[in-house]
Amino acid sequence: MNNSVKIYIAGHRGMVGSAIWRTLQRKGYTNLIGRSSAELDLRKQSEVDDFFIQEKPEIVIDAAARVGGILANSSFPYPFLMDNLQIQNNLIDAAQRFEAQKFIFLGSSCIYPRLAPQPLKEEYLLTSALEPTNEWYAIAKITGVKACEAIRKQFGKDFVSLMPTNLYGPNDNFDLLSSHVLPAMILKFHEAKQSTVDGQHPPVTLWGSGTPLREFLHVDDLADAVVFALEHPLTDHLYNIGTGTDLSIQALAEMIQRIVGHTGDIHWDSSKPDGTPRKLMEVSKMTDAGWKATIGLEEGIKGTYVWFLENESTDISHST
Ligand SMILES: NC(=O)c1ccc[n+]([C@@H]2O[C@H](COP(=O)([O-])OP(=O)(O)OC[C@H]3O[C@@H](n4cnc5c(N)ncnc54)[C@H](OP(=O)(O)O)[C@@H]3O)[C@@H](O)[C@H]2O)c1
Repeated sequence: MNNSVKIYIAGHRGMVGSAIWRTLQRKGYTNLIGRSSAELDLRKQSEVDDFFIQEKPEIVIDAAARVGGILANSSFPYPFLMDNLQIQNNLIDAAQRFEAQKFIFLGSSCIYPRLAPQPLKEEYLLTSALEPTNEWYAIAKITGVKACEAIRKQFGKDFVSLMPTNLYGPNDNFDLLSSHVLPAMILKFHEAKQSTVDGQHPPVTLWGSGTPLREFLHVDDLADAVVFALEHPLTDHLYNIGTGTDLSIQALAEMIQRIVGHTGDIHWDSSKPDGTPRKLMEVSKMTDAGWKATIGLEEGIKGTYVWFLENESTDISHST
């Protein structure tokens, strides 16, 4: 791949987009473009078309989306469905009409059915009902996968969908109203550690039972997979991106508690929803293509906590 190829990273200020930007820069790509949502609202088709006419990106990476955890998804079903449909439809359709060479669409593991066999294979898509707590988001993402598949099938273009498992890392969202489980735990343990009274750390209350099993991928690993997909034409339209290993939410909490240095109790609020009982990606399709994750969970969380401490004084929530 020529290092001066023009690459548009939609959502370049987000956790995923900024990691992709850093990785591309590190690898010597010199012609990167990005726009904030204030500069270009991707929900507006005419603005997106004007941008493509003016900038003519050769490669488009779609890391723009309205993203959030269970609470945000269930409180705001309409924007989680409609904003995501509008953003991705406008990008995919403009990339198709204005002749981008390549399009990389990022979705998430929530596209797979709630009770699909584990680990999740790409072929389980649309085989049974979705997890109701995030079906709005999942339906939008499934539509994006299908749009890229249709373009690939009808026009033979290199449009590919990558489905990352749960991500974490620098630039994660640390707002408890909209964050995912891992950054929410870092914030809760950190705040409890800060409010020590007579040398004791107050207990931390976490959602659910602690029993669900989850997989976590460092965002720099995902960025590496995106650059791999950019540099190596993939033969199929849909690939899972993960580590292929999971752990219980309780084990995750204990790991984060240790890294942060909180010594109080953990209380589990089982009146709150657990979500899907297990979510682990089958990643052999991507491994067979030649890519695998390299950042261990403990190492990745330690680095993320360091980033959190360095950026704590700035506004590191992404609340919308
Ligand atoms: N976070 C995860 O655990 C996870 C897991 C699997 C997959 N993913 C996927 O990765 C992608 C990015 O997620 P993320 O975690 O990086 O999210 P994020 O940090 O919230 O970033 C989202 C980005 O989307 C942009 N955006 C949102 N609405 C927009 C609009 N109307 N117009 C233009 N830009 C808009 C934002 O731009 P501004 O900052 O300029 O407002 C922001 O840069 C999503 O497709 C998501 O499904 C994430």
